[in-house]
Amino acid sequence: MTSPESITLRQPLDMHLHLRDGDMLRLVAPLSAASLAGAVIMPNLVPPLTSVEMLSAYRERILAAAGPYAADFQPLMTLFFQDYPESLLAAAKPHLFAIKLYPHGVTTNSESGIHSIDTAEPTLKRMEEMGIPLLVHGETTGFVLDREAEFLSIYERIATRFPKLRIVMEHITTAAAVQLLDRFENLHATVTAHHLVITLDDVAGGLLQPHLFCKPIAKRPEDRDALLAAALAAHPKLMLGSDSAPHPRHAKECCGCAAGVFTAPLLLPRMAELFEAHDALENLEAFTGGNAIRIHGLTPPDRSVTLIRAPWTVPDSYQDDSGLSVIPWEAGRTLPWQIAD
Ligand code: DOR
Ligand code: ZN
Repeated sequence: MTSPESITLRQPLDMHLHLRDGDMLRLVAPLSAASLAGAVIMPNLVPPLTSVEMLSAYRERILAAAGPYAADFQPLMTLFFQDYPESLLAAAKPHLFAIKLYPHGVTTNSESGIHSIDTAEPTLKRMEEMGIPLLVHGETTGFVLDREAEFLSIYERIATRFPKLRIVMEHITTAAAVQLLDRFENLHATVTAHHLVITLDDVAGGLLQPHLFCKPIAKRPEDRDALLAAALAAHPKLMLGSDSAPHPRHAKECCGCAAGVFTAPLLLPRMAELFEAHDALENLEAFTGGNAIRIHGLTPPDRSVTLIRAPWTVPDSYQDDSGLSVIPWEAGRTLPWQIAD
């Protein structure tokens, strides 16, 4: 393919995004809303989102924080999985994109996650019957490198027992998870931008890099390569979900660093760079939105986003007047693409 000077992406979506609340929400929401037609908003606030009222109020705060971009940005809201009666699911459904399931204690703000998949089954059954998708943080509390692999049998079990439930394996990090996609019709997956680029070596192979530390942790080169091959081919069941997870600088650059990589500011330019480097630009639009629209039957705002070939240096940090500071992925690095105004 020749080298284009611009790339236009129709209805780009981030299918897994942490926007937080309060000052952090106001700082980061415009960075995603400026260049996306929509995003799936994670519910792991403190306390987690577990009611229709919380969901609707949070959506309003997101749109307020998105400011001028709100008109063209669709927040796809999620509830935090717990045992929900049918009446609540019915009331929530018009406001809801999906429900996000966290096992207890596997990541940030997952203290009220589930202790056993058995107890989750009645709600999963209701979701299957009502057509509410299930998003899953698929990790056990085992050895850190094996957590996703150990969870794959749980995915198999849910996919088999609830064949009509649309399941998304969130932020997959292993070659084995990519392979599982092709074995169950109702299994889909998101993958982050950073898991297409980094391995555990980048996190901890040299000096420790707290801004690359996340859950699930980056894995082996062969895992990264399998994820990348699937993304570059726009595997029809794979969607970009950044898992952009901002934490204040002091919570990252400390002893006991919080998990999460803040990728929102460079998401689309970085993916354009990656796909171009592998001569796969023709598949970028499917990976950054087209697949998600087809899989979920979404109708995001009809917004096209243009990237231009012009060097752009990722800011060293994003900050506000209150002293809040967040460090983005690849801070200080110059990318060949930027979002056109
Ligand atoms: O690294 C992560 N950070 N992984 C998650 O699953 C949650 C996220 C967060 O909320 O900070
Ligand atoms: Zn996440």
